[in-house]
Amino acid sequence: MNGLPVPHRPDVTLTDLRAEHGRPALGLGTARPRLSWTARPTGATVPAWRQTDHEVRVSTVPAVPGTVPRTWTSGRTGSGDNVLVPWPAPDLASRERVRVQVRAWSEDHAEPTAWSAPLEVETGLLHPGDWTAVPVGPDWDAEPGTDHRPALLRREFHLPAPVVRARLHVTAHGVHEVEVNGARVGDEVLAPGWTSYHHRLRHRTHDVTAHLREGANALGAWLADGWYRGRYGTHGGNHDLYGTRTALLAQLEVDLADGRRVVVTTHPGEGADGGTWRAAHGPITAASLYDGEDFDARLAVPGFSRAGFDDSAWAGVRAYERDPATLVAAQGPPVRCTRELPPVTVLTTPSGATVLDFGQNLAGRVRIRVRGSAGDRVRLRHAEVLQDGELCTRPLQRARATDTYVLSGDPAGEEWEPRFTTHGFRYVEVTGWPGRLGEGDVVARVVHSDLERTGWFTCSDERLNRLHENVVWSMRSNFADVPTDCPQRDERLGWTGDVQVFGPTASFLYDVGGFLASWLDDVACEQLPDGTVPWYVPMIPAEFWDPPQPGAVWGDVAVLLPAVLHERYGDTGVLRRQYASARAWVDLVERLAGPTRLWDTGVQLGDWLDPAAPPEEPAAARTDRYLVATAYFAHSARTLARIAQVLGEEADAARYGRLADEVREAFVRAHVHPDGRMSSDAQTAYALALAFDLLDGPQREAAGRRLADLVAEDGNRVATGFAGVNLVADALTGTGHDATAHALLTETGCPSWLYQVAMGATTTWERWDSLLPDGTVNPGHMTSFNHYALGSIADWMHRTVAGLAPAAPGYRRLLVRPRPGADLTAASARHETPHGPAAVAWHRRGGELLVDVDVPLGVTATVDLPGRPVVEVGAGHHRFAVPDVPATPAAAAALQPA
Ligand code: BGC
Repeated sequence: MNGLPVPHRPDVTLTDLRAEHGRPALGLGTARPRLSWTARPTGATVPAWRQTDHEVRVSTVPAVPGTVPRTWTSGRTGSGDNVLVPWPAPDLASRERVRVQVRAWSEDHAEPTAWSAPLEVETGLLHPGDWTAVPVGPDWDAEPGTDHRPALLRREFHLPAPVVRARLHVTAHGVHEVEVNGARVGDEVLAPGWTSYHHRLRHRTHDVTAHLREGANALGAWLADGWYRGRYGTHGGNHDLYGTRTALLAQLEVDLADGRRVVVTTHPGEGADGGTWRAAHGPITAASLYDGEDFDARLAVPGFSRAGFDDSAWAGVRAYERDPATLVAAQGPPVRCTRELPPVTVLTTPSGATVLDFGQNLAGRVRIRVRGSAGDRVRLRHAEVLQDGELCTRPLQRARATDTYVLSGDPAGEEWEPRFTTHGFRYVEVTGWPGRLGEGDVVARVVHSDLERTGWFTCSDERLNRLHENVVWSMRSNFADVPTDCPQRDERLGWTGDVQVFGPTASFLYDVGGFLASWLDDVACEQLPDGTVPWYVPMIPAEFWDPPQPGAVWGDVAVLLPAVLHERYGDTGVLRRQYASARAWVDLVERLAGPTRLWDTGVQLGDWLDPAAPPEEPAAARTDRYLVATAYFAHSARTLARIAQVLGEEADAARYGRLADEVREAFVRAHVHPDGRMSSDAQTAYALALAFDLLDGPQREAAGRRLADLVAEDGNRVATGFAGVNLVADALTGTGHDATAHALLTETGCPSWLYQVAMGATTTWERWDSLLPDGTVNPGHMTSFNHYALGSIADWMHRTVAGLAPAAPGYRRLLVRPRPGADLTAASARHETPHGPAAVAWHRRGGELLVDVDVPLGVTATVDLPGRPVVEVGAGHHRFAVPDVPATPAAAAALQPA
């Protein structure tokens, strides 16, 4: 502090007040939601302001008008924290709605900020005893081991007074869509999503006040197999993974103006009001996540979710089991359609088929608008690529990815989009379309978890911009409730290795704090008692992968992903929640490695999909798989020691720190020669040793040189699979080989990141060469065009090409350290940190490198520019100019005139 505090209010406002990870604010699943907010300058200048204290005010928001709200304040807490701050007030009750405000002090100002704008949050059903609903499903026989025709459910009820507040708490065994009085509730797709259903079934709370009215009302639901009992898994998969019967679990709680509460629940038999649930088949004749949906509009049941509908011919319902203690509120945003894309071209293939090209590989489905005769049948087949001008469906393996719509013949025209399926596609083959396809008749609807975008990157090389766009599109396509490997073939599993590698990139591009914390809960649930982490989560049976066996890179997600969430979001809570799981993993590997500290046994996928591996042997990499396993063991032990430190577990911090030292020594003894050469003389081996900091002094330098030489010898082509792809560029820049790292990034020969771009990719591929140089699809059994692991280079692009990195948990400090490649004239990255927007943008001008840095309020930045001493700066905008290395002739030619 310089001198006396300024006497007046600071020019600072507190904004973005949020509970937990922001959304949802309705139906929160905790009595003690953590709070976060950001401070922003209100004036033209950035004040010297750093929060040193804060106060929280909480007032109740009663449902019934006229009830006096209660207010509670924390008083000055003495805390400078503003990210995921523990709930300071008394525990919230179930269904409690409160208005929260915060104000804060800085040591430079005697006065606090004004109170922030209020945030209203409302809890859902927090205790198992709050649930009176039980799951109900149709009372007809269902043959196990097959696909089932989806059902409709309905019930009517009477509300004796006007409605002031109504909440619907809902989930299902299967997937569902709910309607009230003829209107759909919310816009969530494939609710309730996929979790490890045996352990956790998520529900959501919807505000349905506006849907209801005094008098007669009706609830209706569509119910399909989804993950619960639909066919799922590779090699034909299995049905009935979680049960043989689908069911809806809904609890509607209505507060009336006269102070009474009416509760309508799913239940067999008659309710207190005499109403009963009824079930029937609807117009969906088949629905499968992999195979697609068939809809016969002639079988539509208009008005089924309205009061007065005649359901006398409908069947009854049966009740099913669900322990309410396994019901949990959703933590992340729902899956929904986030945008629409029209086709860019209509193609006629050599065989005469009509194929729409949407110009972008994506996950979702199409919506059609069609007019024709009753019984006309439109068929839509989806694929990611064409081969020989025709739809190429081989990569889909056993996913039929085909939707069918049978027209009712409505002269006004018909509109349809499947409800209970999604596909990974760029092309759609349309058959049976009555008349001519017109503009707007078919649009692609992009479907994924509706995460908030938080990170952007751009530079002077359009090819790198396209690569970055491809990374974003593959993330969009695969962050679909579960972080999946791919959205198109009969797989779509939460492969643990893929998201372990991609986690840092994901958490820059989008706010994945709630999404991944939820998935990590599933990881902990599915972990075996001995600490084994399944290859994918949720775990389902499959030939080779079941029972799960411990494998490096994949299992390490239990330690490394919580650490990423802490680094990027300042979330210490997730470290605490996952601590037992992380420890169980490292303890297991310690036992497996034994006294040698080398993990050299068991099934290891190693550097999966090394481009040198034969198409059918993706684990046959150049880097020894046990080298990979021991390197990861050292890294996870070290990371766990740091986690223990953050959590104040001093004894564990010391124990795992020692373990990490021992594994590091053993690794060097077994795999590194005195001259720095490694037992596997391959890019991934060096990348692991360097990026995981397993080498010291001359050995480190020598290994860095050898890695740079290897890259040069490989003609700047990348030679890593999943285990090295996110590390190789860091390993190079970390040892001073910036130019080689850039050469690797900008190479276009096969394999390389820009090879995919040059081949017209609009997403990142599973294999470096999913499309071979001759334009044919890789013959390998698994060949997806939409996998995110190889896109994990984007994190390095953000941190090192543009130069924006976290230097303390939650970006409390930034590291601004761009290493401009000589072939670029400009680059920038922007990120919505938990403290507000941060940005770095550099460009070359007249022999200078000009660097603009924006630091959020309350944050400091360490600025490390080439050829200039490192400086620390505070909040605000800063411009630096340093003498520049000359750009390459090509880049110089592209320079804008100053
Ligand atoms: C998936 C991967 C996964 C791998 C592991 C593949 O089928 O698509 O991304 O990590 O299997 O074996």
